[in-house]
Amino acid sequence: MVQPVCWIDDEIRPLDAARIPVRDHGLLYGDGVFEGIRFYHGRPFRLAAHLQRLQDSARAIALPLPRAPDELAGIVLRVVTAFGAPDGYLRLIVTRGDGPLGIDPGPCGTPRLLVMADELNMVTAQQRSRGVSLIIAATRRLSADGLDPRIKSLNYLNSILARLEASRAGADEAILLNREGRLTEGTADNLFLVRNDVLLTPPATEGALAGITRELILSLAAEQGIPAREQPLGPYDLHTAEEAFLTGTGAELIPVREVDGRRLPACPGPVHAACEAAFREVIQRECAVPRPA
Ligand SMILES: Cc1ncc(COP(=O)(O)O)c(C=O)c1O
Repeated sequence: MVQPVCWIDDEIRPLDAARIPVRDHGLLYGDGVFEGIRFYHGRPFRLAAHLQRLQDSARAIALPLPRAPDELAGIVLRVVTAFGAPDGYLRLIVTRGDGPLGIDPGPCGTPRLLVMADELNMVTAQQRSRGVSLIIAATRRLSADGLDPRIKSLNYLNSILARLEASRAGADEAILLNREGRLTEGTADNLFLVRNDVLLTPPATEGALAGITRELILSLAAEQGIPAREQPLGPYDLHTAEEAFLTGTGAELIPVREVDGRRLPACPGPVHAACEAAFREVIQRECAVPRPA
């Protein structure tokens, strides 16, 4: 039976019964980091990469992780087992912990670890087959000299403001530009586009999360002989692309149908189809084998 669960205070509880104190600085100030990880066939996908990024995000905000990476991996596996279904989504959260009112993290106690497992239904079957509509948001991606978008922090307001714009415009997703007006990423996904048969994505230093799916797609494209590279890109490149798609743990690969009301010629396009097939093969290869006891 499927049971949404949460590891909290060193035990696994039903998700609805998990509680944190209101003085947790994750709640008060968004002070913390997180990861979203899918599991397929009972195995977390690319767990080591996610734990590495969690560690990097935590180091970037000077937050000590409360557990070593191998302990975290052990907890994740226990949570997946408790969830009961083979496929689902994990949310690992590390907050600064409880502290007094006031932004200073100094007096906070031990960082708090939460590991949730639940279903994730953020993309409909129709969006996957027919593609999604994008707008380029007026909200700009935060600059690295304010809060580096490579940090997967508990504060997603920048993305949320852009997503509100998309919803108000009747679009499915928003792409954020950086301060220089170049493309960065979606609100919870990375952006790929194809121009002149080359698969392109903005470098993470333009203002994007260094997505684990993004990294995988770049290497799968190379393996299949599809020319692919990181390159600074502008709205013109997206408006005139041959095809485009979004990538992410939650998103997986979502084809883009239109951008700012301009229909893209191919959706889903041939590069998306090739990458999607290769992506599914990797999941099958890495996850559809029994977990060691
Ligand atoms: C802002 C943002 N960009 C990109 C991604 C995609 O990254 P990944 O493929 O590692 O899930 C995510 C999702 O985690 C995200 O929140």
